[in-house]
Amino acid sequence: MKTNIALSVICLAAASAFGGIKDAYTGRFHVGAALGKWVYEQTPNAESDLVAANFSSITAENEMKPERVQPREGEFHWDSADKFVAFGERHGMKIIGHCLVWHYQTPDWFFKNADGSKADRETLIARMRTHIHAVVGRYKGRVHGWDVVNEAFDDAGALHPSPWRDGIGDDFIELAFRFAHEADPNAELYYNDFNMFNQSKIAGVLRMVREFRAKGVRIDGVGLQSHNGLGGPAVADYERSIQRIGAEGVKAMVTELDVSVLPNAWGLTADPTKLHDYEEKYNPYTKGCPADVLEAQAKRYCELFEMYLRNSDIIDRVTLWGVNDATTWFNDYPVPGRTDYPLFFDKDLKAKPCAEAVEKLGREWKGEKTALKPDVLTTGTAGGFIGATVGMYATRGR
Ligand code: XIL
Repeated sequence: MKTNIALSVICLAAASAFGGIKDAYTGRFHVGAALGKWVYEQTPNAESDLVAANFSSITAENEMKPERVQPREGEFHWDSADKFVAFGERHGMKIIGHCLVWHYQTPDWFFKNADGSKADRETLIARMRTHIHAVVGRYKGRVHGWDVVNEAFDDAGALHPSPWRDGIGDDFIELAFRFAHEADPNAELYYNDFNMFNQSKIAGVLRMVREFRAKGVRIDGVGLQSHNGLGGPAVADYERSIQRIGAEGVKAMVTELDVSVLPNAWGLTADPTKLHDYEEKYNPYTKGCPADVLEAQAKRYCELFEMYLRNSDIIDRVTLWGVNDATTWFNDYPVPGRTDYPLFFDKDLKAKPCAEAVEKLGREWKGEKTALKPDVLTTGTAGGFIGATVGMYATRGR
């Protein structure tokens, strides 16, 4: 009896969990999430239920990266990645592989000989080919698309130094795309990077896209990581980049979206190799995020999603980089040990104002009228901008 009561309480809690973000955007784009292994390795759990109810695409936050899959040469670890793919299949999700070639979270052995000296071009190419064939080949026909190369361009639109580029030469990106295509000819292939709102950077990436297409090298899309703050980047720049990607005839993927609410004194970048020292002034909300900050975040998310909706003919997928604030990478980047609140769900897996506002925005654009807050109906803007924002969308009659 006791067990039954306990079970029904759990079921009620699960049934009342927030759901429906993905459904609010069907016909426009997939809404996805990056998952830590605790979400999908032992299911169901509260977070996996929440993911199934709200997201139609998944990316592994870490478990498909080279350091996890092949920590030592020839030693492959598939357990977590297999569970990730199986979880996505059980829920009919679009499964994204992240990532094959990157300078970070890639073990040193890829680039070195046994005696520690630098491995030559042919060795690096062979190792790259073996790695890509093993990973892409294992999930052939099951992973929808791959971030083939991650973070190769600098802000000026040139290739930056990296052990892959230094060891192979500028054609390392093309080789990676060719190997991935060999391993699964039907998989979509993407180039992924941060700061893609920067017009010089996107120009460099798109030069590469044009070159690939002229040569017949498959590339389906460009991923804009989109690690954002409350104040930047400007939506206009970001939108311009998405439209420039569309003009090249490839898809744009928003691959790693989050909106940090913490001060960022270092400029907008998402280079995970650049950390800064902890100072208390950079960690103001250790005991909870103030309501006005959560509202500002909801407004910012709505501005972004409205821009995505305007460009949904170009955008295939919008993936959040995580699910809940307790486990966001922003708690350790770019300053280790902070408490940030960048995602849709709080540490108790409760939907935040940004999740509710984004879900409502999607429904309004689909023409499904949802109940407006009474204060919005009577006073227009009273009650804060979340209500006002929704009210504004309601008058569009979309
Ligand atoms: C991050 C993960 O979220 C962290 O858990 C990990 O410690 C470092 O990498 N750009 C990317 C992602 O392409 O793979 C990074 O993920 C975040 C920046």
